[in-house]
Amino acid sequence: MHFTKELSLLSLFALSVVAAPSNKFESFVADYEDLPGNVAGSPNVFGPPTPYLDLDYSGVVVASNSPLAVDAVFTTSGKNYLATNPGQNPDIKVHSNISYCNFNSLVIGTYLNAANGDAAPAVDSTVRFIGTTTDGKTIIQDYNYRTGVTNLNGVALQNAFDKPVALKNFNRITELTVTVVKSAGTVALTGINLDRLAYTCFAK
Ligand SMILES: *[C@@H]1O[C@H](CO)[C@@H](O)[C@H](O)[C@H]1NC(C)=O
Repeated sequence: MHFTKELSLLSLFALSVVAAPSNKFESFVADYEDLPGNVAGSPNVFGPPTPYLDLDYSGVVVASNSPLAVDAVFTTSGKNYLATNPGQNPDIKVHSNISYCNFNSLVIGTYLNAANGDAAPAVDSTVRFIGTTTDGKTIIQDYNYRTGVTNLNGVALQNAFDKPVALKNFNRITELTVTVVKSAGTVALTGINLDRLAYTCFAK
């Protein structure tokens, strides 16, 4: 009896050690360069694997501007980036072994989507970042993307590069989504490019 009690106390102690919060954290700048990129403008279907650097992605595909660059908005760093097909919105959740991530910055651009990919021009827009925190709060930040090149009513007539954006107060986030809320084109047909997502994740 005494022995059993000691054993159960011991296993309780062991359990509490296992359940103790982990201090393990890792910082990343995700550039998607190590993933097979679909040629931009072709019917892209593959997103990053789950998980990719502690995050689970949906609503995005990995696009590449090599060997063929037909996307009007592409990253200046490396050849790969994330893009959306018509009707997709980037949704990024922390993987099941992660408590939360603090998101610092990313590179973003928008373009007019075609039915079969993303071979249309860069377009001025307002994108909205929405973060959900561990305690259920919503963090919202809007960003006005401007192509910054000669354009006709906000539609660029030539290639425009992605712009880096600092994310403010996107700490203790479990889910991050990006949507287009305004566009010089049609909101529903405005695609999103992402690259160089900088963040730190804390393990469970
Ligand atoms: C979470 O799990 C993934 C997939 O099993 C693994 O690659 C990654 O290293 C883990 N992350 C941490 C912080 O333990």
